[in-house]
Formats: sequence, structure tokens, C-alpha cells
Amino acid sequence: MHLVMKRFGIFELLFSLALLTAGGCYYDVEEELYPSEECDTNNVTFSGDISPAIQSNCLVCHSNAARLGNITLEGYDNLKAQVNNGSLLGAIKHQPGFAPMPDGLPQLDACLIARIEQWITDGAPNN
Ligand code: HEC
Repeated sequence: MHLVMKRFGIFELLFSLALLTAGGCYYDVEEELYPSEECDTNNVTFSGDISPAIQSNCLVCHSNAARLGNITLEGYDNLKAQVNNGSLLGAIKHQPGFAPMPDGLPQLDACLIARIEQWITDGAPNN
């Protein structure tokens, strides 16, 4: 009886570890490959979504005062200029030919990128 319990204990431990590891990997991969399945891109607004996201991820380097790379994203008009010339989307999607943003930091969350892209597709309204 003692032997059986002990064997079960070890087996269960290994099995749980395998599950945990596999679960972690699966989640990461799924999130990267299928952002749209878990991501709501409806009703994205400049004031409610885009401006706060730019504020917290970009303005430390791209405020009017900081202006790194001679780029300011502060305020709708300045941001819209980078939308119109294609740099904003190219930079956050890490497309070839653009400096990958945010500079030296992990890429933005896949859902946030999808929401920004949807806003741009909608004509980047000042709403
Ligand atoms: C830590 C500082 C820093 C942060 C944070 C940062 N940037 Fe930048 N950004 C830079 C620098 C420096 C450059 C100039 C890079 C170059 O020219 O190689 C730049 C350049 C750019 C460019 C021009 C890219 C091109 O290839 O023309 C855009 C657009 C841009 N940033 C957007 C953003 C956005 C959007 C965010 C937030 C998601 C962001 N940046 C966050 C420092 C930063």
C-alpha cells in the first residue's frame, strides 16, 4: 500500500508539471496566432483607447518635450501625422523599414495593436 501511494504521488507530480508547462506554451502560442478570437476591436475611440495607450507606452519618449527621433505623438494632430505617413503602424507592428516601437521594450500587446489598427482602418477619427 505504501509503495502504491508513493508511486502515485510521483506520477501525479510529474503529470501536473507537464500539464502546467504545456498549458503555458499553448496559451502563449494561441494568443500570438489568433489575437482576434480573444480581442474585441469594436468601438475603439481616440479619447477612450488610443490616447491613453499612447500616453502610457510612448509619450515618455515622444512628448513634445522629449521628442526622441524628432517624433512627437502628443495630441491628436501629431499622432495623426504619423498615422497618415504609415510610420505609426509600421513601428508598432515591427514591419521592415520602420524602427520597432516601443524602442528597446517588448512589443505592445497583440490585442492593443489590433485595436489601434482597427481605429486606423476606420479613418483614425478624433472621437
Ligand atoms: C524609450 C524611448 C521610446 C519609446 C518608449 C518609444 N519610442 Fe518611438 N522612437 C524612439 C526613438 C529613439 C526613435 C528614433 C529611432 C530611429 O530613428 O532609429 C523613435 C522613432 C519612432 C517612430 C518613427 C519610426 C520610423 O521608422 O520612422 C515612430 C512612428 C515611433 N517612434 C512611434 C512610437 C510609438 C507609437 C511608441 C509607443 C508604442 C513609441 N514610439 C515608443 C524612442 C522611443
